[in-house]
Amino acid sequence: MLKRIEQIKSEAEGAIAAAGSTAELEELRVRFLGRKAELTMLLRGIADLPQEERGKVGSAANRVRQQLELKLEECAAELEASEISVSLAEGQVDVTLPGSPTHPAGHLHLITRTTRQIEDVMIGLGYRVIEGPEVEHDYYNFTALNHPPGHPARMLQDTFYVQSDPEVLLRTHTSPVQIRAMETQAPPIFVVVPGKVYRRDSDATHSPMFHQVEGLAIGEGITLADLQGTLVEMLGAIFGGSRQVRMRPHFFPFTEPSVEFDVSCFLCDGSGQLAVGERCNLCKGIGWIEVGGAGMVDPNVLGFVEANGYDPEKVQGFAFGMGVERIAMLRHGVPDLRRFFDNDVRVLGQFL
Ligand code: PHE
Repeated sequence: MLKRIEQIKSEAEGAIAAAGSTAELEELRVRFLGRKAELTMLLRGIADLPQEERGKVGSAANRVRQQLELKLEECAAELEASEISVSLAEGQVDVTLPGSPTHPAGHLHLITRTTRQIEDVMIGLGYRVIEGPEVEHDYYNFTALNHPPGHPARMLQDTFYVQSDPEVLLRTHTSPVQIRAMETQAPPIFVVVPGKVYRRDSDATHSPMFHQVEGLAIGEGITLADLQGTLVEMLGAIFGGSRQVRMRPHFFPFTEPSVEFDVSCFLCDGSGQLAVGERCNLCKGIGWIEVGGAGMVDPNVLGFVEANGYDPEKVQGFAFGMGVERIAMLRHGVPDLRRFFDNDVRVLGQFL
């Protein structure tokens, strides 16, 4: 009997030492110490043994039982610890990884991106970005910008007026913000004004709503050469490479002299030819691309904000304006401006 108890002990110890998991240990516990285990039965049957054997067998069985319990406990603690560290390693989560959205995150509209690029260049030149209202008063859109009463741009067929008030309209350009800016800040002033403008136009290169960026620089001794330098800097940054800028005489009621400005073609580098005898299709062989309008701010315009420090005898400066869609179309070869506003993600998604 005692021998059998020793056998059970070594058998159980061997099995416990070889166990690979806490689940396996639990099975061994049931097998060697459970209600139906041989050792348990043996202890239960002690009363039936002859008197002189009871003490020895009983204490040997109980000792083995205690030893096995201890052994099981030790092994369980060890296995549990290693199981926890394995599950921690396997279930590791990198909380710094970006989530995986169910829909792609998307990106900015090309017009927004182009506008911001222009803003960034101008901020680098020391300008401040400001905005103005899209529903504007005739005074800011026309009168203070030196438009005479009968000017064609004021006509109903060119401009959207608000029905209830013949003096309120959707601004036709961002230039009214020149006046608003000068009303709120004395010279010197350097501002850039992005925003939506509205005209009664609709074809492949015009839409009733489009975007402009306006620039205004007023101070002492600012000249047309400063305008040229500013445009060279800005258009070089937008179109890349070393771009040249040329000005052609033009007319705007609120600048004098007025110009339209062109940038040297970024496709043919101003040569007008892509290869010998092959005409550049972007600039139509001219070597220049028209970008916007500009000029020296007319003293009459400064006269409207003279009370705020804009004495036309003391300060002067330039303004320029350009269409954002046009720049985006040129840069990305988009043939029809209306595609920007159809909001077809297959189109918009191409401009990352
Ligand atoms: N506002 C003019 C336009 O929309 C552009 C312009 C701005 C011209 C500033 C001169 C100075 O056509």
